[in-house]
Amino acid sequence: MQNRKKLKLAANIDGLGWNHVGWQHPDMPADASENIDYYIQQAKLAEAAKFDTLFLVDVSHVGPGNIPHYLSMFEGASVMSALSMHTQKIGLSVTVSTSYADPYSAARQILSLDKISRGRASLNAITSNPGGMVNFSRGHLGKSDQYPMNKEFMEIVLGLWDTYEDDAFIRDKGSGVFLDPRKMHRVNYRGKYFQVDGPLNLSRSVQGRPVLYTAGTSPTFMDHATSYTDGVFTHGNTLEQTVAIANELRRRLVEKGRRAEDFIVSVSQNPIVGRTDQEALEKYLELLRLTPKNSLPRPLFFGSAEKVADQVQQWYEKGAIDMLILRQDHPHGLRDFIQLVVPILQERGIFRTEYEADTLRGHLELPKPAFRES
Ligand SMILES: Cc1cc2nc3c(=O)[nH]c(=O)nc-3n(C[C@H](O)[C@H](O)[C@H](O)COP(=O)(O)O)c2cc1C
Repeated sequence: MQNRKKLKLAANIDGLGWNHVGWQHPDMPADASENIDYYIQQAKLAEAAKFDTLFLVDVSHVGPGNIPHYLSMFEGASVMSALSMHTQKIGLSVTVSTSYADPYSAARQILSLDKISRGRASLNAITSNPGGMVNFSRGHLGKSDQYPMNKEFMEIVLGLWDTYEDDAFIRDKGSGVFLDPRKMHRVNYRGKYFQVDGPLNLSRSVQGRPVLYTAGTSPTFMDHATSYTDGVFTHGNTLEQTVAIANELRRRLVEKGRRAEDFIVSVSQNPIVGRTDQEALEKYLELLRLTPKNSLPRPLFFGSAEKVADQVQQWYEKGAIDMLILRQDHPHGLRDFIQLVVPILQERGIFRTEYEADTLRGHLELPKPAFRES
């Protein structure tokens, strides 16, 4: 399948990858997940390469087997607010757990980020693992509560983001009229888990509302995603499995009267790339030698730049991905992909050479949603 849109690229910049060994590499700041200079460096690298968005996953509690750098890391909305001041175009995606967070606070935080960044924010509203419930006064809830909470959370957040119609604020100094109160709307939501009256104290975004994603693989996840979100972060072990998930999501979208083109299917990969296969292998071995006790599976996207570009192109053309989220196992993973693979994707006309828009919805070719009363 040839997708209509250009390929989208995202950089997961939370430091040292999803592995236990990377922090020991001499080229990696061992404190990368709480090192603002490192975040700024990675954000600028991704923006210079015209990436669509930065992306942060969420680890909001300490649990058994934590990857070391997740033991001390920044909260997503805080660090993205800082990065919004060091970047101009690139999107800023924050992951928030709908099992832990409060929807009013999350709606306010992410819409604030959206307005601070002039239309570049997105929220990845995930169920997450239940281990953190005890930190958020929800110790009495369990896994079976998570998707019902997720549904209520997303309905409330979407409603709050459309508190004000686009022309609600008059702010006429002469007449002293600040607001047209008929254009302010409450959500008046009464759920099992959340009760929110609204209104939210923030006007609409220049991109309509922040981009909304969710993450998962199950049928319930698919149902929520295709009902509420602009895209997903999902996972398949193989190309075929990922194509099947993506196509199932698109089938459900169409069934619900939505356009598959207005939805972003994202998958994360951790490429290790070199100018040659041998160079890529050397980089992988550098990591393996760091901690012989820990194993590190060889990435699926692996080898020479041409080979990795072929893989990305194949996943894109077969419809497995609209957006590839890059995370790095090797400290130079993002830099190497940008220097070696991105020019090939640009030459092949798959990825942009310049930003065409100023907002995240613009980059993702998602239409600006009209105001909708809840
Ligand atoms: C691609 C992907 C990314 C995820 N990212 C996170 C994350 O950043 N933080 C987290 O706590 N859980 C994350 N999860 C876990 C999901 O929130 C969810 O709890 C899990 O997928 C189980 O739900 P499911 O069976 O409906 O997929 C992720 C899951 C997937 C598949």
